[in-house]
Order: sequence, then structure tokens, then C-alpha cells
Amino acid sequence: MKVVKTIEDARRAVREARAAGKRIGLVPTMGALHAGHLSLIDAAAADCDFVAVSIFVNPTQFGAGEDLAAYPRTPEADLAACRARGVELVFMPAAEAMYPDGELTTVSVRDLCRSLCGRSRPGHFDGVCTIVAKLFNIIQPQAAYFGAKDFQQAVVIRRMAADLNFPVEIVVCPTVREPDGLAMSSRNAYLSPAHRSQAVALYESLQLGAKMIRRSRPPAPQVVAAVREHIAAHAPDGEIDYIQIVDPETLKDVETPEGAALIALAVKFGDARLIDNMLVDADALRA
Ligand code: PAJ
Repeated sequence: MKVVKTIEDARRAVREARAAGKRIGLVPTMGALHAGHLSLIDAAAADCDFVAVSIFVNPTQFGAGEDLAAYPRTPEADLAACRARGVELVFMPAAEAMYPDGELTTVSVRDLCRSLCGRSRPGHFDGVCTIVAKLFNIIQPQAAYFGAKDFQQAVVIRRMAADLNFPVEIVVCPTVREPDGLAMSSRNAYLSPAHRSQAVALYESLQLGAKMIRRSRPPAPQVVAAVREHIAAHAPDGEIDYIQIVDPETLKDVETPEGAALIALAVKFGDARLIDNMLVDADALRA
């Protein structure tokens, strides 16, 4: 496994793989790797000949007052996990390598960034799109792997790749959960034991909402109210940022879930802002 820190070295490593006719898969991450990240690496390894993982805590996707400085960094464990998984290349640039001159260019996928997390994290998705576009240009993968846990991110990146004609297949992999249902996240490390046990209410509330939609397709506000009530009752310290039922492609609110609907939520426990979502196919599951 090669570990490189500069853009030049990363380009050189993939150039050799490409010349050898290998299919290159990229898994972009911010490190502190957990089983969710590893599932993306496994998916990439299953259909690529050369897996590149990037580990970069991207400063431009953190807003003022967010957790950039506190974000967990575990480089040694990350490298060991990548090595154990048979990863070919790890790209771990310093911020100065990625942003040497105070860049003036930003990639922005306009409408899709306004709802859900975009509302409470203005500029976040511009930071994500810009860094992912840079990684696509540096690594030039044939396929890139993202988690459904960050559903809005996956939708935004897919649209960016289509709009800007990146010749890359965007693969979205299922959310990996802890045994009790909590979605795995590097930010779970921030949770106190009390908050950790309350946080399972997020998954439970999504299951409850999904069941309501499948059973009778009630108007979205009724589902949102039931999800909200469950969280209020079982996670009293959780501060709800949003609970929304949206169209999984446009990410716009739906009135009454028909066809596929996404229940998405963000809840803060102290400094830890957790997100989760569940895709429900109202029609298919009702039949
Ligand atoms: P990060 O939060 O490290 O996540 C990297 C990838 O792992 C993302 O595609 C994310 O959706 C996926 N992932 C995280 N938790 C998961 C889980 N429980 N199950 C399945 N997949 C999961 O997302 C980012 O980094 C950054 O925004 C990035 C795309 C790297 C750009 O900086």
C-alpha cells in the first residue's frame, strides 16, 4: 500500500495503475475510519482493480463555530485498517497541499444545497463539492463510493458529476449501523454515555415514520409529528435541527409520500450533530 501526501505523488501512483489498464475506485473520507467507511472500501475492492482512499479533514466544509479542530483524527489506525483491507493507495494531503493559494473557485450545486443540512450549514456543500471535484481531478477514478448515511451529499455529488461531465460512476452504499441501530459516524465519538443511549431514538423514530408511510401514506406533517414525538420522549437531550420528508431526487418536501420518499433528520446532542435518514418506497411496500 502506498501512502502519499502530495498531489504529484498521488497522480503518479494512479498514472501507473491506469497505464496497467486497472479500474480505479476512489473512496473519499475525512478519516477516523469505522465500519461504514470500510464498507465503501469493500464495495470499491469488489468492482475495481485499484482502490484509492483519501483521508483529508476538509476545512472548507466546516462552518465557523463547527467542529473542525475537534474532529477526530486517527491516522495510524486508519492506515492499518486500509492496509488490512488491501487498499492500494492512501492519499493524505495537508491542507496547504490542497488549498495553497486561497483559491477563488468554488463548485456549487445550487438548489440541492438549500434544503435539509444545507439550511443549517450554509456553504457546507460548496466545500464538499469543491474538494470532491478536486479529488476527482487528481485521482481520476472510474468509480467513486459514497454512503447513503449522508444521503444529501450523495445526491449533490451525483448531480455535480453529471452536470460537470466527470467520467466517474457514483456508487452509493447502504448505511452501516451499530447493533442497536445508531448509524455509524466519526462524530459518535463525541457522545457522552447518556447521549449515546438516547441517540438510538433517531433510528427508532425513522423506523416508526417508515412504518406509518408504508401502512397508510398519511400527510407528511403527521409523520414528522410522530417522529418528533418519539425523539422528544426517548431522547430528551436531543435538540432537533430538522425532520423532513422529501423527494429523494429533488430533496424538496413532499406533502403526501407517494412512490419513494426520504425521511431525513438532524439532531444535536451537546456538541454532536447527528444525521440519519431512511428511504421508504411508499407504493411498493404497501402493495
Ligand atoms: P466522512 O464523514 O469521513 O465520510 C466518508 C464517506 O463515508 C461518505 O461517503 C459517507 O457517507 C460514508 N459513511 C459515513 N458513515 C457511514 C455509515 N454509517 N454507513 C455507510 N457509509 C458511511 O463525507 C465525508 O467524509 C466528506 O464530506 C467527504 C465526502 C470525504 C468530502 O470531504
